[in-house]
Amino acid sequence: MSPFLFSFLASSSIARTLLFFGFIFIYITFKGIEQVSSCYGPKKYPLIGSLISFYKNRCRLLSWYTELLANSPINTIVVERLGARRTIVTANPQNVEYILKTNFNNYPKGKPFTDILGDLLGCGIFNVDGEVWHARRKLASHEFTTKSLREFIVKALNTEVHDRLIPILSSSNKKKKVFDMQDLLSRLTFDNICKISLGTDPCLLNEEMPSAELASAFDIAAEISARRGMAPVSAVWKLKRALGVGSEKHLKVAVELIHGSIMEIIKERKKKIHDKQMEMMKIDQNDLLSRLIQGGHSNEVIRDMVISFIMAGKDTTSSALTWFFWLLSCNPNVEQEIVKEVTMHGKGEQIGYQELKEMKFLEASLCESMRLYPPVVWDSKHAARDDKLPDGTPVRKGDRVTYFPYGMGRMERLWGKDWEEFRPWRWMAGDNRKEVVPVSPYKFSVFQAGPRVCLGKEMAFVQMKYVAATVLRRFKLRRVDDQPPVLVPLLTSHMAGGLNMMVEERVVEL
Ligand code: HEM
Repeated sequence: MSPFLFSFLASSSIARTLLFFGFIFIYITFKGIEQVSSCYGPKKYPLIGSLISFYKNRCRLLSWYTELLANSPINTIVVERLGARRTIVTANPQNVEYILKTNFNNYPKGKPFTDILGDLLGCGIFNVDGEVWHARRKLASHEFTTKSLREFIVKALNTEVHDRLIPILSSSNKKKKVFDMQDLLSRLTFDNICKISLGTDPCLLNEEMPSAELASAFDIAAEISARRGMAPVSAVWKLKRALGVGSEKHLKVAVELIHGSIMEIIKERKKKIHDKQMEMMKIDQNDLLSRLIQGGHSNEVIRDMVISFIMAGKDTTSSALTWFFWLLSCNPNVEQEIVKEVTMHGKGEQIGYQELKEMKFLEASLCESMRLYPPVVWDSKHAARDDKLPDGTPVRKGDRVTYFPYGMGRMERLWGKDWEEFRPWRWMAGDNRKEVVPVSPYKFSVFQAGPRVCLGKEMAFVQMKYVAATVLRRFKLRRVDDQPPVLVPLLTSHMAGGLNMMVEERVVEL
């Protein structure tokens, strides 16, 4: 190029703009190459990152991430794409331990709570960090450890299972009727968690299969919030929210209904408690709401606490049980072993807390089922500062760091060559293999671990064992469809199309 032409180009403003963007392009390209060489993950391009492959795989994110993680020598990948935070996904237990114990928050720094769940959960326990979380955790742990609450939970469960679920299954047997087990379980857990959290009984589980506004509002809000998290470009849902259109409009309506209904219940209960106190009468309600009111918390704090509890207890255990019953219907040898155990340990009509504790093979089978189909398939935290994970992956302040129980349950490095098999025996140890092996919660991260470990883990096992043992002692459940089910990762693992089953009365030789 002649010196004249060069000085002409350099002096013209178009040329300067072109040169500027040229430098940026080269910088981004080299930065991209440098990151590809230090991190594993999907192929990236300048500017858009992995947006194209993310978009192509958006309907199979679980399998895509699992394949990428299995192919990464460190079981960690980095996904960078235009329109979303840099995301690190890991299936490495050392990383999980580091993330859950150090500088990673539930929401990005500088924001009051996460964008994705904030509209629904407000300042509930799931959605806050730091001092606010400490206060919520202390309050909730205290409530969870009271003996009277545990007794209340088992009592609520007895009624729900014996007076509602069993009669429905019996009637389906008599009429040879197909039913959707996922729907029944979800109704059961919604009734149950409303009794425990709110002291109300929506009676969703009965033969008429009624629909309830509050339950549907929770379903809608949970689904739309979960889809926000999976959107290829987050600006799209944010724009829809700002304009109040499409799915975001439905979310707004659902959230208003949830917040309004819960507020109504709080006000009514406060009045009832106040009236009783005036009359010096004993307050005999053991639900969480009544306890929180008596603790003197504000209406907003109580509302957000209760919504978080309902979300926590509503679909987690029902999702775990749905996948468990499906796996049993494909593995009659495991079912046989469980039936042997539950008939040996629980001979009476209603099973007691101690008898449930002795059902070790049932516990192992539930763990094995959740290893393959965890109710919460992934969970994201946010980096509070620049950092490095134990496997060497660099983390930048603000990055989303996701630990991935679904992928972790499928890593050969963690579970061996037979990871694909449903084999509860892998959890059994001790003489005659009668004890459940303690597995690191950072490897089996289904209930999270560390300071924010799930508060309802024990309650969830009581619920799952009670339902599974009572149903399996009386009935054989058989699925109607032969096709393997599809997991839709909403806030919890949903089975697309439900779990259609038929039931037969079991003849057990005692
Ligand atoms: C199989 C059933 C369950 C599974 C797999 C499960 C899983 C989890 C997970 C992964 C978290 C971490 C969420 C996060 O920080 O982002 C969590 C937290 C929590 N879970 Fe569960 N959960 C189950 C049942 C329950 C039940 C029945 C309750 C009771 C209502 C409950 C109450 C809670 C609470 C209060 C927290 C928040 C803990 C905190 O942030 O300090 N969970 N659970």
